[in-house]
Amino acid sequence: MYASLKSIGSYVPEKIMTNKDFEKIVDTSDEWIVQRTGIKNRRIAAVEQTTSDMGALAADKAIQRAGIDKNDIDLVICATLSPDHLCMPSTACLISDKIGIRDVMAFDLSAACSGFVYMLSLAKAFIESGAKKNILLVGAEKISSLVDYSDRGTCILFGDGAGAAIISATDDKNRAILDVHASADGKYSDLLITPGCGSKYPCSTEMMNEGLQYIKMAGNEVFKVAVRTLTKDVVDILKTNDIEPEDIDLFIPHQANLRIIEAVRNKLKFPKEKTVFTVEKYGNTSAASIPMAINDAYEDGRLKSGDLMLLDTFGGGFTWASALVRFGGN
Ligand code: ACO
Repeated sequence: MYASLKSIGSYVPEKIMTNKDFEKIVDTSDEWIVQRTGIKNRRIAAVEQTTSDMGALAADKAIQRAGIDKNDIDLVICATLSPDHLCMPSTACLISDKIGIRDVMAFDLSAACSGFVYMLSLAKAFIESGAKKNILLVGAEKISSLVDYSDRGTCILFGDGAGAAIISATDDKNRAILDVHASADGKYSDLLITPGCGSKYPCSTEMMNEGLQYIKMAGNEVFKVAVRTLTKDVVDILKTNDIEPEDIDLFIPHQANLRIIEAVRNKLKFPKEKTVFTVEKYGNTSAASIPMAINDAYEDGRLKSGDLMLLDTFGGGFTWASALVRFGGN
């Protein structure tokens, strides 16, 4: 039995925040942001809109496209670094409730931007072991709730949104998740961190006044490790599976920074037309980035049944992961 990525869906909030909008709140320019990151726009959720609201809308679309009954879903996992509630209930429980799935296992996964590919690894194991048959994976983020809009080094990078996929059992290897490599190294934890609101710095007025509830990032150092790790990860997974770069139909990297994507793409000699870029219009949506990019390729007609996708991601922790996935949808 194999695990197949049977369908994809996404949701983006209506509000668009442009680089010009950032010029009004921090000392930056459209030119700087485009040149250093490739980002032009990002979507920002409405004040009352939560991560689970967006995740549920993306999930509805994925379920509909999979053509399955939602009652046949036997596991719900949500990857997010911006859950509706810090400790409990999990965002996966809230999404399950919003779409009317009851009495099935539901939990969140914390791996920052690598969350969606980490979940693919779990879904593959659950299905190949025979424990589950239809799994709903959601990557959803309201990162605007974690961003310090006075810190020009981070605020310009992030956006909100959600992506979802149904992973189902199949006996067809040509429509299966072939392999997932996922890894982490906690020695880099301080380079990309939301220090506050956990057990180390519990919520307090002092903690909030210091701004420890917001994302802090040593951008330049993150950049260098990201390029090195993303490249190595791709080389490793292709070699392990005896697959050549030219066998890949679509290279779908984490959408954090156009310069990171281009550095990795050039090192690996992937042609531009086989690479998916969404960073320009959505910015970095962390755990939602990869499923939103897969969804864009699907809706543009670039992703076809049986196509071999190479996913590659990197995030806080540091965590990183890559996957070889044959698209099982229609
Ligand atoms: N506008 C104008 N100037 C700026 C801005 C801005 N928005 N932000 C920083 N600068 C300035 C800095 O203050 C610095 O000025 P100085 O030389 O006077 O000190 C100068 O620009 C250069 O700063 P760097 O940080 O060296 O700029 P860099 O070229 O590295 O670009 C960036 C910064 C865009 C953040 C880049 O480092 C990056 O993309 N890093 C990786 C981000 C990432 O991939 N994160 C991983 C995933 S995220 C996750 O897991 C949640």
